[in-house]
Amino acid sequence: MSFLPYSCQSVDEEDIQTVINTLRSPYLTQGPKVKEFEEALCEFTGAKYAVAVSNGTAALHLAMLACKTNNTHNVITTPNTFVATSNSALYCGSKVLFADIDNKTGNIDPNNIVKLISKDTRVIIPVHFAGQSCNMKKIHRIAEEFDTKIIEDGSHALGGSYNGKPIGNCEFSDMCTFSFHPVKPIATGEGGAITTNDKELYDKLVMLRSHGITKEESKLKDNEGPWYYEMQLLGYNYRLTDIQAALGISQLKKLKTFTQKRQHIAGIYNKEFNNIDGVNILDTKTDESSYHLYVTSIDYQMIGKTRQEVMQELKEKGIGSQVHYIPVYKQPYYKQLGYKQKHFPNCEEYYSKALSIPIFPKMSETDIKTVVSAIKCLKD
Ligand SMILES: Cc1ncc(COP(=O)(O)O)c(C=O)c1O
Repeated sequence: MSFLPYSCQSVDEEDIQTVINTLRSPYLTQGPKVKEFEEALCEFTGAKYAVAVSNGTAALHLAMLACKTNNTHNVITTPNTFVATSNSALYCGSKVLFADIDNKTGNIDPNNIVKLISKDTRVIIPVHFAGQSCNMKKIHRIAEEFDTKIIEDGSHALGGSYNGKPIGNCEFSDMCTFSFHPVKPIATGEGGAITTNDKELYDKLVMLRSHGITKEESKLKDNEGPWYYEMQLLGYNYRLTDIQAALGISQLKKLKTFTQKRQHIAGIYNKEFNNIDGVNILDTKTDESSYHLYVTSIDYQMIGKTRQEVMQELKEKGIGSQVHYIPVYKQPYYKQLGYKQKHFPNCEEYYSKALSIPIFPKMSETDIKTVVSAIKCLKD
């Protein structure tokens, strides 16, 4: 490839053809393809139910609403995430409590959850950062004691596994959310989903996705005739279209291959970067992570260059890089809510060194070599 971005979608002719076929069908908005996509997501993750929605942010928002999260609650999550994760708590009027991370993995540290959790904690949102699962068994044990719900933010992690089982199967959580933004493991343009094993949560999510309206006879409080529907909850229009779902179905069929390719690339990086001065790698499991991202940890002082200089040097060699993430508490909106960076020493240390380098299924062996050699030359 001429320029290697840090990540990028893989859309082929087969994907394009299924979208064209759907455009020729009677359904453009939510229809049979959405249902088929949800069934495929259940099959893939092993969860009983899946609800496809318009994006990963909507998935988080609906999951929080389904837990009845409100302004009397607090929500614990990680600061090393995209703002959408913690915003979903703010949408519900809840207070966000950030738990510092384990800077070896970039994931939330369960020991820091213990320090924050109380009877007012409605939800914990662990984010499987870069595709590597959080310690879900431990988080589940902590949550159980306080009757706290768990919503996994699996936006990075579709295709990954934990304990030998697919992420999204909700063995240790109430729900798991996904994003199908183009840089994510599969792409639908914009798109997202929630998986769960709880029928009550599922029914609620389905209603909340479409204005809080139901037409299901068994759920109606009244029935005035065949035109009749009821709005029973304050919901949203967070529907996915059949056009997007058709792409999702086609992409999901290739997800195993996509993940294997990402794990192959990560395996090479892990080996090549194992022993170079000034460059460290995250502690990840090559056979578990979906490797949405590959994050290096660079000691800029040791290599004698700033992060800006490194990014520029890589760019000149045709290599894109990015920083995941600016800790959420550093954002101006969150700053005025009173968060102080001194409370998150691990996240500060992690953020000062993090740099994501290219990893995506379309990379060729030559592309991988180009990146490896550029990273190995950083100190020269
Ligand atoms: C961890 C995480 N959560 C949530 C989201 C939001 O997903 P979307 O962009 O589909 O709304 C993202 C997207 O970047 C993300 O990385």
